[in-house]
Amino acid sequence: MNTSDISNPMFAERVQTWPPYRQAALQARLRTHGARLGALFCQLYPPEQYPGTLTRLIDTLLSRLQSRSDDLFALDEHRIQNPDWFTQSNQMGYMAYTDRFAGTLRGVQSRIPHLRSLGVTYLHLLPFLKARQGDNDGGFAVASFTEIEPSLGTRDDLEALTAQLRTAGISLCSDIVLNHVADDHPWVQKAQAGDSHYREYFYLFKKRADVDAFETTLNQVFPETAPGNFTWNDATQEWVWTTFYPYQWDLNYRNPNVFIDMIDAMLDLANLGIEAFRLDSAGYLWKQLGTACMNLPQTHTVLQCLRACFDLAAPAVLLKAEAIVPTRDLPPYFGVGASYTPQCHLAYHSSLMTAIWLSIAEQSSDLLRRVIAGTPALPPASSWITYIRCHDDIGWNVLRPELSESGDHQFARLKAAARFMNGEDSASFSSGRAFQAAGSDRVHGSNGMTASLLGLEKADPESTLARLNLVFGLICTIGGLPVIYMGDEWAQGNAEHLPDSTWAAEDGRRLQRPFWDDALTHSTQSSLHQRQFAQLKGWQRLRAAHPELAAHQRLELLPCKDPHVIAFRRASRITVVANLSGHTAILTEAERSNFGLEQATLRPWSIRLEKTPC
Ligand code: GLC
Repeated sequence: MNTSDISNPMFAERVQTWPPYRQAALQARLRTHGARLGALFCQLYPPEQYPGTLTRLIDTLLSRLQSRSDDLFALDEHRIQNPDWFTQSNQMGYMAYTDRFAGTLRGVQSRIPHLRSLGVTYLHLLPFLKARQGDNDGGFAVASFTEIEPSLGTRDDLEALTAQLRTAGISLCSDIVLNHVADDHPWVQKAQAGDSHYREYFYLFKKRADVDAFETTLNQVFPETAPGNFTWNDATQEWVWTTFYPYQWDLNYRNPNVFIDMIDAMLDLANLGIEAFRLDSAGYLWKQLGTACMNLPQTHTVLQCLRACFDLAAPAVLLKAEAIVPTRDLPPYFGVGASYTPQCHLAYHSSLMTAIWLSIAEQSSDLLRRVIAGTPALPPASSWITYIRCHDDIGWNVLRPELSESGDHQFARLKAAARFMNGEDSASFSSGRAFQAAGSDRVHGSNGMTASLLGLEKADPESTLARLNLVFGLICTIGGLPVIYMGDEWAQGNAEHLPDSTWAAEDGRRLQRPFWDDALTHSTQSSLHQRQFAQLKGWQRLRAAHPELAAHQRLELLPCKDPHVIAFRRASRITVVANLSGHTAILTEAERSNFGLEQATLRPWSIRLEKTPC
């Protein structure tokens, strides 16, 4: 079936009533992306096996494209001409839970001045779709893809918010939980009632032996609070695939209806003005016996096909991979493989984030250097998300490949770094807490807000501030879209005494999920909180003024003798030098001159940026 020409009856009949400019735009998009879309979809779902599904997909895309507003359609066309708009150094990100940040979606409108004051151009609001009643993994157990969580607002509120944000130059990013749905989602309820159509949406097994066969090669996400990857379901007398919590049922992407329903839900949200999707748990989409069911080639084909759908029906929208996997596994998420097929525009650089924490704990730049050295160049119009904290734990194991290069005994370093950040080491200034690794020798994750991990409660304010400046300086200069986690702009500490929330279940990650604190925003100018805000704003201004810091600009590590120091150059023009230790570092004369610094000494926990004159 020819998917690259609008004269194909499949398109022609559907679009004949469209205004000529929309028909012309569709024709142009089909020429560029149509054949790719058809080929990818048929590769996943061969037409002889699934007759009529390609036509259903095209119908879905055309009907969503038809209902796209003129404003969003114009944005689509504008971004087709400016595909790397989000990779520029004037971009700045922010992420928050709606309820904790501003109560409701309407409340978020009142925070726009705050976001603007930080230079934010991209706002990621954590899940705001209708969530499961009771425990819901912070909203990641979605009960409806078309309804907003009632306590947060309505679809109208969302549409009003995206429009306001757009006017303020801010793109709204929404989570889309691709891998699973809540057990009170209508698809699950129908499957449980025996509806054969919806039973095919999930992985269900009668025999424990079948489940065990998969378990031998699977990992565990929550080994303590949700061990195993399958849950017994009394209603159907079957085992259900539940990678995360038992109430989150994994979706079966071998079924084309799942793919089409998910793309339909995403385009519906895109038509309400969502400009970016965080593809939650993107690495888990395809399951294959005998594998870890992570990062499989078919998962990438699903994501490539998703991208082709967006290139056709909502090209202004960015796709962001939430794949918390080692750096070496990330290039495919950008579509880089034996050949290049566009996939996600953005991906979290979680190894970089974790390596910064490990380097702070060790007071050594060793691993950070290795991670930077192993970071591949980006394909066109793509960017890393650089970040220091988010709503999840710091997952230490992502660094295993870099450490294993130096021998197995190196894993002890992960345990030591985790102990340091969890405050279990007597010399530690950190107030983090172990996640899913209590009382065992296992290394898993650490929880805590940035400021608490950097000494808010235990160290002197000057050192804490210096360390805050250091970590934010790194994520703002290394290359990518820096995303600030709500509260970090005010050096907000751990949420030790959080009031009961709608999320119900106890989850150690609550430590880094505080509510907005007006007391911090109103504190005196000289307070640590205001000074953190000022220094963060300083980095944003610096970024905006220096296009050399854009994501795609060259990043080059510079040699340096002192193991506490890291130095790198951006775009052959800007040098960043950081001292990752609590001691004064002294550079050699050659280094001082190479880095363009006036003095050879670097204060403890300091970061400097120098621009080479033209
Ligand atoms: C992602 C989220 C995490 C959630 C998980 C399951 O990793 O960031 O918070 O628990 O997905 O949906």
